[in-house]
Amino acid sequence: MNILKNLIIVFLIFIGGCSTTSHSSIKGSGKTENPPIANYTPLIIAHRGASDLEPEHTVLSYKRAIKDKTDFIEIDLRQTKDGELVAIHDKDVERTTNGKGKVQDLTLSQLKKLNAGKDQKIMTIEEIIKEFGLSTNYYIETREDNNGNLVMEQKLIDILNKYKLITKHKVVLQSFSEKSLKKLHSINKNIPLMRLLGDEEVESLTSDTLKNIKKYAYAVGPNAKLVDESFVKKVHAANLKIHVFFDAENERKLTKEMLGLKVDGLFTNNPFYTLDELKQQKTG
Ligand code: G3P
Ligand code: CA
Repeated sequence: MNILKNLIIVFLIFIGGCSTTSHSSIKGSGKTENPPIANYTPLIIAHRGASDLEPEHTVLSYKRAIKDKTDFIEIDLRQTKDGELVAIHDKDVERTTNGKGKVQDLTLSQLKKLNAGKDQKIMTIEEIIKEFGLSTNYYIETREDNNGNLVMEQKLIDILNKYKLITKHKVVLQSFSEKSLKKLHSINKNIPLMRLLGDEEVESLTSDTLKNIKKYAYAVGPNAKLVDESFVKKVHAANLKIHVFFDAENERKLTKEMLGLKVDGLFTNNPFYTLDELKQQKTG
């Protein structure tokens, strides 16, 4: 009987030892240690190119981002009056060019006359793809037009197919518009989609909402200022990735924190800075 009892004790000690090793539990805390930072490789996405260093959405900002070894260049799209897809963030051209008016009310040739900074011109998505080809990856944001219509989805997918960017896995598409993402998904189920989350959505996000997003997207994109450890856990529990974006004024303040939380991707206005932060965290 004693022999049997001793065998059981030895067995239990062995099991306990294995468990401690495999789960890296922190003794007594009941918490699980984070995986080593050395294995952590988040996607670094150049927000409107390296837009901290060069005029946003110009060939200069994309070139700088690629030189700094970003994983993706991020491109905001809008449609012109004559149906061309151009890289520009705002509804109108005032902030980023020397012109006036809404992108939707201007033709491509009118937009091409504007200076987007450092004598650069507004580019079409096709010009960007022709310039950079397969040398980078493209993280493209779709939007509804100013009247809430979906005008760019089929057109964009046709262009991406023309350059084989989808079959070569060079593209992620993102949107705040669920309607736009669902349309993209209905056209081609093989494109990785990311659902951008408005601030109010982040604050009230439920597991059921995440489950619904998971039906068409592989990732969600909240503003980093609203992200904490429990939010990251909630997203990961839904089997989704989390790619955070920043308000320009607090990017520096929050980058370290987001790397500490091991988010799966970061939009950055300065990929050189973010990659350097990541390197510093890895080397200790
Ligand atoms: O696409 C990520 C981030 O760009 C979302 O915000 O307003 O800069 O397009 P916004
Ligand atoms: Ca964007």
